[in-house]
Amino acid sequence: MIEAHGLTKDFGDFRAVDNVTLTVEPGTVLAMLGPNGAGKTTTVRMMTSILAPTAGTATIAGFDVVKQPSYVRAHVGVLTEQHGLYERMKAVEYLDFFGRVYRMPPEIYQKRALDLMERFDLTFALDKRLGEYSKGMKQKLALVRAMLHDPPVLLLDEPTSAMDPQSAKLVRDAIIELQHEERTFLITTHNLAEAQILADRIAIIRHGRIIADGVFSDLVRSFVGEPMMELRVNGELNGLVNDLSSMVEIDSSGIDWLRYRAPEPRKTNPELLRRVTALGVEVVTLAPVSQTLEQVYLQVVKEDEAQENLNGNNG
Ligand SMILES: Nc1ncnc2c1ncn2[C@@H]1O[C@H](COP(=O)(O)OP(=O)(O)O)[C@@H](O)[C@H]1O
Ligand SMILES: [Mg+2]
Repeated sequence: MIEAHGLTKDFGDFRAVDNVTLTVEPGTVLAMLGPNGAGKTTTVRMMTSILAPTAGTATIAGFDVVKQPSYVRAHVGVLTEQHGLYERMKAVEYLDFFGRVYRMPPEIYQKRALDLMERFDLTFALDKRLGEYSKGMKQKLALVRAMLHDPPVLLLDEPTSAMDPQSAKLVRDAIIELQHEERTFLITTHNLAEAQILADRIAIIRHGRIIADGVFSDLVRSFVGEPMMELRVNGELNGLVNDLSSMVEIDSSGIDWLRYRAPEPRKTNPELLRRVTALGVEVVTLAPVSQTLEQVYLQVVKEDEAQENLNGNNG
């Protein structure tokens, strides 16, 4: 539904986006992560026909962003950085304006606008001017606008930044619901917990280049390691580490806890618990050691920095 091949953007002699290739399958969410200035917004702008690429191609729902911009716009909902336009307009006028831009019949877009405003808790502000909107309210209104023409593809650049937790949750719920209706998303975010909830696939971009791209579980395996379990017991482990090391690979241990690698927890954990209980040791907890997108992200960036230093030192 979203495809980019070798997408590149130069601003003068500065390369902001460098040979980005990625695919987002229909009905899935790709989260694009990366430091400030990495090229996320520039990529989104190119993919939605707002900005012309220096090189490479991209298609949205099969339409080329350079050759078929009006088709692209009809099939994509876009949220990018806000520029303080339309400050004097009331929300209701603003949505009316975009309904007409999208060439929708008034009875359709007016109903959709009201439904979406309600969904994002903005009904009370329909008659307020945008100048009176808070940053988070503007962000939600911009989402309503992006969704007004019911596009199959949505590119949302930091959709929940500036939002209170409850509003951010409303937006996430809307994304999940729309995804279940087979909409396709590319979102950028700095909220890694949010990306972990929403994304089917994660791409990390740094200095304009994609430095990691995959599903969460694969990225975890590559950059954090095999899943691990932590066992805590009443009292002391004593000889337990020795006893269990024939069954599982022990990673680390303390007085009353140990961690072991569990690539197949369904098989290993019950066996291990039987053994521990048979040895008369009381189990307090057995729980997976959490593996987070934050760990993945920090490791990916660290490895890329190390690679960069190596290249730099080699001339
Ligand atoms: N219109 C522009 N002219 C010159 N440089 C730009 C322009 N837009 C973005 N850049 C530069 O391109 C790089 C990537 O920016 P951006 O895509 O906004 O990053 P991100 O969204 O990942 O924070 C930054 O170094 C930024 O300063
Ligand atoms: Mg940005």
